[in-house]
Amino acid sequence: MKAPFALLGSILALAPSLIAAQDRSVKDVVAAFEKAGIPEDLAIKFQPSSLLEVSFPQAAGRAITLKAGVQLPRNVTAGPPTYRLLTNKLIDRGPFVIASVDPDAPTPQDPTVAQIRHGLAGNFYLSNFGSSRGGLKNKTSAITEWLQPNPPSYSDAHRYIFLIYRQPEGFNEQKLVTPETTVRLFNISSFASAVGLGDPIAGTFMVVAPDPPAA
Ligand SMILES: *[C@@H]1O[C@H](CO)[C@@H](O)[C@H](O)[C@H]1NC(C)=O
Ligand SMILES: *[C@@H]1O[C@H](CO)[C@@H](O)[C@H](O)[C@H]1NC(C)=O
Ligand SMILES: *[C@@H]1O[C@H](CO)[C@@H](O)[C@H](O)[C@H]1NC(C)=O
Repeated sequence: MKAPFALLGSILALAPSLIAAQDRSVKDVVAAFEKAGIPEDLAIKFQPSSLLEVSFPQAAGRAITLKAGVQLPRNVTAGPPTYRLLTNKLIDRGPFVIASVDPDAPTPQDPTVAQIRHGLAGNFYLSNFGSSRGGLKNKTSAITEWLQPNPPSYSDAHRYIFLIYRQPEGFNEQKLVTPETTVRLFNISSFASAVGLGDPIAGTFMVVAPDPPAA
């Protein structure tokens, strides 16, 4: 009777993380990206092979995990977010680069300072390679630390898009974007092609509106 109990134990151990998984199908994520006009606005080819799980830790209670296109109140997005890669394909352990951008600054109607780079970091490795659900751990500090969304009070909600790429050799030596580089007027597609990132292998996004006026 030992084996079935051991199996049950491992299913239960898995359950909390399964509940947290929000994006379940690559097809649905692609549809959400297209509906929101993201591939066009970012000038990216979005044909992902995997799911990128992005979670925001909370001071009280469990972390909030994105479902592509979810609208979140600004106060749950302090981060920094944590990441996992969900894949059916045998994928290398890493390294990977994760980028986050806001194409809607200061407003979606007139994005004159977009994209704002809300995060850029390399050297993420799958922590449990071989599992279909690998945690991604960074081995170096970020180039651009996570920047919490802060759309201006007069703006509609902004889109915040997370993309993961395979990290090419020599990425750590690139000088195009450093911690000193302004986060404004970033262009993820031209950056990706300049440093050889190729196309994103997965991604997701959220929508965040300005804080409601103080009562
Ligand atoms: C976050 O802000 C929303 C309104 O946007 C409010 O309803 C909620 O209580 C706030 N949560 C926390 C934890 O402050
Ligand atoms: C990984 O990234 C986090 C958030 O940017 C940072 O606090 C941490 O120091 C990084 N880890 C390493 C090993 O640099
Ligand atoms: C970003 O660069 C791409 C070329 O890689 C270009 O097609 C696109 O128009 C640029 N986007 C912005 C907002 O400047």
